Amino acid sequence: MLETLKQTVSWLRPRIPETTKAGVILGTGLGELVHSISDKTEIPYETIPNFPVSTVEGHSGKLIVGKLGGKDIVAMQGRFHFYEGYSMKEVTFPIRVMQFLGIKYLFVSNAAGGMNGSFDIGDIMLIEDHINLFPEHPLRGKNLPEFGTRFPDMSEAYDPELRESAIRIATQNNIKLQHGVYVGTSGPTFETPAEYHFFKIIGGDAVGMSTVPEVIVANHGRMKVLAFSIITDLGVVGKIVKVTHEEVQEAAKIAQPKMAFIMQEVIKQL
Ligand code: HPA
Repeated sequence: MLETLKQTVSWLRPRIPETTKAGVILGTGLGELVHSISDKTEIPYETIPNFPVSTVEGHSGKLIVGKLGGKDIVAMQGRFHFYEGYSMKEVTFPIRVMQFLGIKYLFVSNAAGGMNGSFDIGDIMLIEDHINLFPEHPLRGKNLPEFGTRFPDMSEAYDPELRESAIRIATQNNIKLQHGVYVGTSGPTFETPAEYHFFKIIGGDAVGMSTVPEVIVANHGRMKVLAFSIITDLGVVGKIVKVTHEEVQEAAKIAQPKMAFIMQEVIKQL
């Protein structure tokens, strides 16, 4: 694993400025952010040694190197989901690569179903914490000290200062920002009504099929994380309707510009 990683990192090193400190996962809801990145270079995943290649509709795969809010960034357009069949090591491989490239901040977005009764479709939720319900842990197995400590602390998995900065920017710009706990599950099924109810009872506000593995590895690698969910459907008793991938994409589009704006402003102030 270490050798594979080093090979990828040495291939990427000359293509990514040393001053790059921020990584972005352009999940559902952050696609628009691409248009705000200047001085762009695109690196298709299939050209990067040892990089997995993404498969799902609506998620194309490339690294975008450039500037956002005046800062050097590297963005992933397209991520690897556990439900696609990738192992947890593959899902989180790009985060390790970022760690070894010297990335200190990770910005993440996703689409999620809302269990919180005060949420509406199209709301943006600042993730304050998560509950990991994936059936496999990305850190299971031998721990390499170069990666991080054996038993990582997760008490501030979503960095309090970055969250404060996001809240301040949202308030100053009249952007409605919900906040809550993200439940990460494997998918690919959406939840049954009983499952939504269960996730609410255990303390969840939103549920989705990504983010948690990447955030765990980022924390292991001592990166600071900021993450948002776009609420694309509701798992609230009485408001549950059938949900499709297309509707999720459509709902996410509405909230996109606001979320992209907050993200860009937070990066500007790093
Ligand atoms: N459940 C899980 N993942 C999701 C959902 C949902 O309701 N909406 C968007 N991603």
